[in-house]
Amino acid sequence: MSAGTQPAADALVLFGATGDLAKRKLFPALYHLARRGELTVPVIGVARSEWTDDDFRTRARESIEANVSDPDPEVVKQLCERLDLVQGDYADPATWQTLVETLDKTDSEVAVYYMAIPPEMFPTVAESLASVGLNGRGRIVVEKPFGRDLQSAQELNATLHSTFPEERIFRIDHYLGKESVEDLLVFRFSNMLLEPIWNRNYVRSVQVTMAESFGVEGRGSFYDDVGAIRDVLQNHILQVVTLLAMEPPADPDAAFLQDEKAKVLAAMEPIAPGDLVRGQYVGYRDEDGVDPHSDTETYAAVRLEIDSWRWAGVPWYVRVGKALAMSVTEAVVELREPPQLLFDEAGGPRPGRNLVRFRLGRNDGVSFALQAKTPGPHLDSQEVDVKVDFAAALGERQDAYERLLNDALDGSPRRFAREDVVERLWRVVQPALDEPGPIHPYFRESWGPAEADKILGGDAWFEPS
Ligand code: BG6
Repeated sequence: MSAGTQPAADALVLFGATGDLAKRKLFPALYHLARRGELTVPVIGVARSEWTDDDFRTRARESIEANVSDPDPEVVKQLCERLDLVQGDYADPATWQTLVETLDKTDSEVAVYYMAIPPEMFPTVAESLASVGLNGRGRIVVEKPFGRDLQSAQELNATLHSTFPEERIFRIDHYLGKESVEDLLVFRFSNMLLEPIWNRNYVRSVQVTMAESFGVEGRGSFYDDVGAIRDVLQNHILQVVTLLAMEPPADPDAAFLQDEKAKVLAAMEPIAPGDLVRGQYVGYRDEDGVDPHSDTETYAAVRLEIDSWRWAGVPWYVRVGKALAMSVTEAVVELREPPQLLFDEAGGPRPGRNLVRFRLGRNDGVSFALQAKTPGPHLDSQEVDVKVDFAAALGERQDAYERLLNDALDGSPRRFAREDVVERLWRVVQPALDEPGPIHPYFRESWGPAEADKILGGDAWFEPS
């Protein structure tokens, strides 16, 4: 067991076992774990639906078949044999008694309680687990959103802490489970090439883009209450910024990683109202479940500042949005210009600036935009891309949920979000929630509202690759 880890779990209890997250992400993740021989514990679903064990197994099989290409029928069969359902109302004490008896039958001492349920149910489930003593026999996994602003996040943390200690609360932000996002840390801190230049002396700006080509796709009523800032900026994308900006942790223990995240977030200025532009795609108000007068943002662009010795004065431009021109998630670090020196002759073009581009979505990888000599008599330079595609270079990687589920079962907290980090993330976005400013319409398949350029102070967005 490495430093900071906890005892491995001997059971997985899935709340919301008949819900959408379980269907789309958790059963496929369980399948992949089972296929690699890493799922050795019973899986007990808890659900309010009037379902039997067989219905539950059928649902698991169907969701694996719909989401995994060419699943091995033997693995699916063995996985289904591990599944049991505790069916009952969460408000009924008998449901919790049945859960205790089911866990006792398996001799479970340390269970993982995975809450794949709407956040308003978290307190009920945590308190009910405590009412039958199960909070002393395992850890709890909660999914974002962790509140809807700083105050509700603090309240949620207080509620969870009244039943589970912080080290046994595993908060999932699935971006932290992505290989490509974790690579930001590995790439930064295992290549000597980067660290000497990774600061305000050499970096001119950083841009992070999370663009999705699709709209709210049937999630209108959820999304309209949330918006882009709460849905992806406060969590996924600020976590990416944090990984790009933080200092190296002093020790592999998860606590040191979280400490460095907390430090960089403490140095991050809360978003100033003039550094935020919100947009909404034309047609959003006609989506099912969306208020026809809604001014919920489906796009947000912000300029961030990190007032630290490493980053003071370097602008961080971040944009997130739906119904944009393409689906792409990437971070581009722009280096300063080299001095003119050689390149002055005959009025030749100045060399362009170097870029380090991390592609974090599909086709993840990294590319360096470098300058090389243009063929011909002059000392002109032109951009050449040195590009690595991680799937081609490194082979198959695991899905975020597979890794996170495995970590939760193993008791490894490194890829989960700690309480103080979550609250600091809310502190950064809170002014954007308090004073959101106007909403600017933009067309589907565009790059968002033109007004977003105003946060760039004369710079331009880099075209995603
Ligand atoms: C979710 C958001 O957390 O992340 C969605 O609620 C978003 O709106 C999704 O589409 C993006 O995740 P990924 O892994 O597809 O980039």
